[in-house]
Amino acid sequence: MVPRDSAARVLAVVQHPLPYFTVALEVPAAYAEAEPGHFVMIETRGGLEPYLRRAFSIHDVSSGPDGVRIELLGKVVGRGTAALAAARPGELRALLGPLGRPFAAPAAGPVALVAGGVGSAPLFLLARRLAERGTRFDIFYGGRSAADLPRREELAAFAERAGGELVATTEDGSFGRRGLVTAPLEQRLREGRYAALAACGPMPLLARLAELTAAAGVAGEAALETEMGCGFGACLGCAVPHVDGRYALCCKDGPVFRFDEVRW
Ligand SMILES: Cc1cc2nc3c(=O)[nH]c(=O)nc-3n(C[C@H](O)[C@H](O)[C@H](O)COP(=O)(O)OP(=O)(O)OC[C@H]3O[C@@H](n4cnc5c(N)ncnc54)[C@H](O)[C@@H]3O)c2cc1C
Ligand code: FES
Repeated sequence: MVPRDSAARVLAVVQHPLPYFTVALEVPAAYAEAEPGHFVMIETRGGLEPYLRRAFSIHDVSSGPDGVRIELLGKVVGRGTAALAAARPGELRALLGPLGRPFAAPAAGPVALVAGGVGSAPLFLLARRLAERGTRFDIFYGGRSAADLPRREELAAFAERAGGELVATTEDGSFGRRGLVTAPLEQRLREGRYAALAACGPMPLLARLAELTAAAGVAGEAALETEMGCGFGACLGCAVPHVDGRYALCCKDGPVFRFDEVRW
């Protein structure tokens, strides 16, 4: 897809348990072709401050008589995400996208999706697509507490539609099983239950998944979230250590990488 710069209209902002929110945007028709793992660079406030746009995964896409809309799932961590969470319906935001290399559609199931907190952002659209295709998948969704599992009911519904389930874990035990999301996954990987795995979340989680998938001989991909300046290969600010010794650019070569491409 050819990325475009456009002015997107804010349609709605929905607050989930803090610090999570979703923003719905009216976007050009080309976004109907966006694939899971594609991302956008969005102007968060409208104006010069914060100056740099912020990267957000395309969380959901829908088309209707009123045009195409995308949703972004955000977690407020600083100035940019706080500004976007405060957007009002009708406001315009400069938007560059769809950007990057998306997930390769897994050729066959069952698939394990693994999300750590706001890492569910790109996996939501992947879960929707797998459910539409009838590819069986389970989604392992982990966070510190129940609030860190936004939109878990909808993710569970996608998984169940394709014959799978959502397995939730929280470190404080406030929802699902207590502990890390890798605990219930590890056993099932060892049993050979999955043909492929796709993940997004904090780097320590992804590094552990790289070890687990290699040990189990399962093909896996992860969407990485490095800090980004431009989103299109100009600033070289998003370097990812590649196994061939060079540095890849997360914005152009990724953000989705196979686990065996990255020096974790
Ligand atoms: C391809 C891609 C997709 C992303 N998708 C999403 C998404 O769907 N939802 C979402 O909420 N966030 C997403 N992020 C992360 C998001 O871009 C950052 O959280 C955001 O840039 C922080 O902006 P801020 O102004 O709120 O924070 P800042 O004030 O810029 O920084 C606040 C703190 O967050 C840290 N930080 C900044 N950027 C990142 C980052 N990329 N990863 C980890 N820590 C960071 C800073 O070091 C600092 O400690 C994505 C990042 C990438 C590269
Ligand atoms: S974000 Fe500028 S080169 Fe990748």
